[in-house]
Amino acid sequence: MVIIVYGVSGSGKSTIGKLLAEKLSVPFYDADDYHPKSNIEKMKSGDPLNDNDRKPWLQELSKLVSKKSCVLACSALKEKYRVTLSEGENNIHWVHLEGSFNLIAQRMLSRGNHFMKVEMLQSQFDTLEKSSYGLHIDVSQKPQEIIAEIIDNLKIENHMSKTSFGVIGLGVMGKSISLNIAEKGHTLSVYNRSTEGEENIVNDFIDACEFEHVKGFTDLKEFVDSIATPRKILMMIKAGPVVDYVLQELIPILSEGDTIIDGGNSHYQDTRRRHELLSSHNLHFIGSGVSGGEEGARRGPSIMPGGPKESYELVAPILESIAAKDINGNPCCRYIGPDGAGHFVKMIHNGIEYAEMELLAESYAVLQNQMSYPEMADLFDEWNNSEHASYLLEITRDILRNKDEGRYVLDLILDKAGNKGTGSWSSKAALDLGVANTMMADAVFARYISSYKSQRVALVANLGDTEKEEVDLDVETLSKAYKFVRLINHHQGFEVMRQASEAYDWSLDLSNIASIWTSGCIIRSAFMQEAISRYDIHDSLLDHEDILHELKELENAVQLVIAHSLITRTAVPVISSAYQYWIAMTTQRLPANMIQAQRDYFGAHTYKRVDKDESESFHTLWNG
Ligand code: 6PG
Repeated sequence: MVIIVYGVSGSGKSTIGKLLAEKLSVPFYDADDYHPKSNIEKMKSGDPLNDNDRKPWLQELSKLVSKKSCVLACSALKEKYRVTLSEGENNIHWVHLEGSFNLIAQRMLSRGNHFMKVEMLQSQFDTLEKSSYGLHIDVSQKPQEIIAEIIDNLKIENHMSKTSFGVIGLGVMGKSISLNIAEKGHTLSVYNRSTEGEENIVNDFIDACEFEHVKGFTDLKEFVDSIATPRKILMMIKAGPVVDYVLQELIPILSEGDTIIDGGNSHYQDTRRRHELLSSHNLHFIGSGVSGGEEGARRGPSIMPGGPKESYELVAPILESIAAKDINGNPCCRYIGPDGAGHFVKMIHNGIEYAEMELLAESYAVLQNQMSYPEMADLFDEWNNSEHASYLLEITRDILRNKDEGRYVLDLILDKAGNKGTGSWSSKAALDLGVANTMMADAVFARYISSYKSQRVALVANLGDTEKEEVDLDVETLSKAYKFVRLINHHQGFEVMRQASEAYDWSLDLSNIASIWTSGCIIRSAFMQEAISRYDIHDSLLDHEDILHELKELENAVQLVIAHSLITRTAVPVISSAYQYWIAMTTQRLPANMIQAQRDYFGAHTYKRVDKDESESFHTLWNG
């Protein structure tokens, strides 16, 4: 929707137009700024402009207003000028500022350096063809009264006062983040489709919403039109093809320079592709990890934005205002890197999350025969008041205490773990990059094996009871092993990011990432706080002498936990995986010489020799 404020020179078009545009959060254009040089010269020399002079100027203005909602201040005295102005846009609201010759002449005299001389005012009055349509406003009123009258008369406030931000998708995360945004004072438009089963989502949200500056839409075009340009829109929708679908719908109705943020758990390669697509339409695209679940989204998530730095700058103030704060009060939202970097980092966050969760589940399994749930909760509570402190440990403690009608909820939950894919993506990405990211993969496989529930039950029924011992494990030993496994898990996760950064030329700042992960996200922990300075000094935890020696000291505890798990037949794939990685990484000569010999035997793949330069390759005629 376009509003053109017109009237003779000195009627206050620019002042009123600017105030109106500000009030409606739309751009303001002053037609005088678009005069060709020749017109300005002519006016300065005292010659009035003729219709031919005005034609290209009006056509230029017509193009300008056809692009987006705005307020234009323009003299537009003759009907045919107004017709030319409406060529590109027929939904124009005309506001004629009217006043007596004396009042306007006086105002012009007080303005001094305007290029329009007061002597020419009479010719303007003579030229003016009053319209029978649009609003006619008396300029003797105060500017604020004029604005109020325009808004009131055009009944445009609700339709036209543009919001500063948009959210697409009112799922659990979308709703929470919308409330967070509104709470920070940003005017907001929210959109959700109204297909079967989702008809009432928007209305219900708006009805329950305590903030008045939130508008709801089920029509995507109306939603887009309600946001001030350049628009900033956050998509909180399910990762996958639906993101492409929504982008295809959005592209034709957006304006150049708008920014779309994908806040879902999209695959980073999809984000790279989408970034290319949106750039080709001169749209900004930010692929952003958002962590913290429902509560985090509402109170302050950890945000990992990726894309061009200049695109991030456009949305930084709003994203940083809604993010969690670290211990120094800085937002847990900082620029991560180009194209898919933000989603890559979020994916690795989830991979670390998978292994952390599995480690806690394995600890619970190890302790199950020797402790009641409340005792275990007390132990985890103790741990949580130590260097082990983490959000995941805290919720595990709470879960162990939760009862439903006298029974532990945990005992009522079927032991089949679900997943939405980010854990397996991290593992695949590490495999592709050649990084030994063993723990995330084992955590994913542990979930897969858990899902073979009926096969597991059938196999147990077939085999009967298997021999196992019931021995207690010293909890101090478990505590040490817990620390060891977490160190290896964080090392592996950060190592994938380090290598991805090199492969994709992302210049990831690992210390910066650790600081974003100290608050708001699922893997926030006391160790993450320490990781900030660790990664500030070295790119690898294993490059820290003290960490290396600590791992060595903790090694015996891990051996004891694994030994205990073997005799009690407790599956501990992630604990084992961490230890296997450690043994291999600290073994000077691995049996990989045998692998090389086998490869060379059946496939003539050649091998390197310990006594020769690595640039040389050798082959043996093994059975010849
Ligand atoms: C977060 C979480 C969140 C969610 C994932 C993992 O950081 O807030 O990682 O993104 O938990 O969807 O889910 P799955 O365990 O189902 O793969």
